[in-house]
Amino acid sequence: MIEEKVPNHIAIIMDGNGRWAQKRGLKRTKGHKKGADTLKKICEYGYDKGIKVLSVFAFSTENWKRDEEEVNYLMELFIKVFNDNFDFVKKKNIKVVFSGLREKISDKVQRAMDKIVNDTKDNTDGIFNICLNYGGQSEIVQATKKIILDIKKNNIDIEDINENTFSKYLFNDLPPIDLLIRTSGEYRISNFMLWQMAYSEFYFTDVLWPDFDEKELDKAIESYNNRERRYGGINKK
Ligand code: IPE
Ligand code: IPE
Ligand code: MG
Repeated sequence: MIEEKVPNHIAIIMDGNGRWAQKRGLKRTKGHKKGADTLKKICEYGYDKGIKVLSVFAFSTENWKRDEEEVNYLMELFIKVFNDNFDFVKKKNIKVVFSGLREKISDKVQRAMDKIVNDTKDNTDGIFNICLNYGGQSEIVQATKKIILDIKKNNIDIEDINENTFSKYLFNDLPPIDLLIRTSGEYRISNFMLWQMAYSEFYFTDVLWPDFDEKELDKAIESYNNRERRYGGINKK
């Protein structure tokens, strides 16, 4: 049997909560609630398998377009999840970080975010990157602005800017994504981590996020294990 390689960094576009609920004649918000349970299950399982970095798309810069009721529900759910569901990150020595713009996020949600970040800041066994009010293009734009400021202040020279230094100006300086998973049968990136997925392997599944489970994660990792990553070169057999 070939030994399983566990990806170092997995990123997930957790999609399909609304459709999961609608299929059952429920309100879309019920799907988000179930989706939050799935997230907890998958995180615990993923870190136990040896994943070091897990990034998840919780709320995009575009998701503000939804009905106020749904947006408010999601924001309350985030507070609840950060306060009550995240004991496992502390137990497993995982550090929580957020990616995204803080503007538009209410003080109440920001306080819950700050608390979990602060409570886990010294943890060293893994990183849990939650993308909230996140857009991949906006991440690149804000990094560019910060670089320009540093150049103006003579902190760095234009010649110092390369892919490595650029990464340090992103919301978080994370390793590249090895495996990107999107659930719910949509084949698009929806402005997720554009910079970090330059060379990631993509895995799309029709399973809706609330139905995603440990077996489905194993399937994604198995598929990843069958990929040949060439990075533009030629692998000698
Ligand atoms: C993903 O599920 C969760 C968020 C975007 C917050 P959706 O809410 O997009 O579910 P569908 O795509 O409408 O089924
Ligand atoms: C992407 O899903 C955002 C999150 C999973 C949080 P969407 O459902 O918002 O994306 P589109 O609308 O299908 O592109
Ligand atoms: Mg969706």
